[in-house]
Amino acid sequence: MMKNKGLYIHIPYCAQKCKYCDFLSFANGDRMEDYFSALKKEISLFGEFQYGVDSVFIGGGTPSFIPSSYVKDFMETVRGAFALKEGAEITIEMNPESVSREKLEVYLKAGVNRFSMGVQSFNDESLRYIGRIHNSKKAIEAIGMIRSLGIENINIDMMMALPYQTFDDLKRDVEMVLQINPNHLSYYSLILEEGTCLYDYYEKNPEAFPDEGLDRRMYHYLVGELENAGLRQYEISNFAKENYESRHNLKYWSLEEYIGLGLGSSSFIDKTRRKNTSDLSFYIYSLEKGRLPIESSEKITEKELMEDFMIFGIRKNRGVSKEEFKKLFSVELEGVYGKEVKGLMKDGLMEEEGDYLRLTKRGRDLSNLCELKFIK
Ligand SMILES: C[S@@+](CC[C@H](N)C(=O)[O-])C[C@H]1O[C@@H](n2cnc3c(N)ncnc32)[C@H](O)[C@@H]1O
Repeated sequence: MMKNKGLYIHIPYCAQKCKYCDFLSFANGDRMEDYFSALKKEISLFGEFQYGVDSVFIGGGTPSFIPSSYVKDFMETVRGAFALKEGAEITIEMNPESVSREKLEVYLKAGVNRFSMGVQSFNDESLRYIGRIHNSKKAIEAIGMIRSLGIENINIDMMMALPYQTFDDLKRDVEMVLQINPNHLSYYSLILEEGTCLYDYYEKNPEAFPDEGLDRRMYHYLVGELENAGLRQYEISNFAKENYESRHNLKYWSLEEYIGLGLGSSSFIDKTRRKNTSDLSFYIYSLEKGRLPIESSEKITEKELMEDFMIFGIRKNRGVSKEEFKKLFSVELEGVYGKEVKGLMKDGLMEEEGDYLRLTKRGRDLSNLCELKFIK
């Protein structure tokens, strides 16, 4: 029997571009009507494959920025095109500034059952430095509004190592998170992406950013505090109460299949990675002509699949299963990566528990380095 897939839907619109962001999104609402007609065509074209789907992630950009009627509309198309399983996890990404009670009610009716709020920080100065359009009061109100509708399945996105952020600032952010007590939390270290405003700022003012030592102190602190509060780390940047891990995101780290629809989205089906065009006009034009807007399609070799299995797998606290490796590739994990695993274990970066190989606390600090070991 075919395993259910994850479905990602990209909404490339925002009110304003954040200073750290290099995601594919526009701040001018360009051709919104045409985009959603095209997206619905793309969803319908996938109907012929009769895929079963047990997680949907409506991401962006800022899905809460667009009129909620579009969400209602394309979710109806999704139900017509895919066998959406009972109890499927359906997430929508939101921003404190654009969410409203009316929109939340539409999302609920459309079947959304997981609500992800981009907060990033509760420090108004930090929020200004990174170009957020809301303040902390707005974020707290928005979360209160979600809860007033009886919704408890909430994720909060936070960021650390922000410009001019001190250890005490981070402590206060963590305290606020614990007061709010969400069921799921993503806590990312700021990545300075080339081409973003913050990247240029860093080039000129590197001293404004926490150094490696402070970054690690912040990370260790927050992992410990969240753990004590029952928000268990299950991936380098992700924390959840028991049974609230994101099923959709776990698919990415476990080499499971997913379908990515919308501008610039990627899919992984039948050991093939496909990427949609990132050109808005071409995306709309292709679908008007009834063609899928695929820009590239690449069959992944067995060697690359093994690498991905390890690189994504060791990001999870649970680690990778040796048995699963053997089931997928018909060879023992040690036969392929014995030397690398032994080396990492000797350096105290990896450990073994039963069938699982996983990074140690120190290994998670050096996860990028550990991941590189599995690229041959
Ligand atoms: C695709 S964004 C969507 C969030 C939503 N648009 C908002 O306004 O909050 C998802 C999350 O990725 C994280 N993120 C985006 N760019 C990042 C960067 N350069 N470094 C670290 N985290 C980043 C942020 O925490 C963000 O909430």
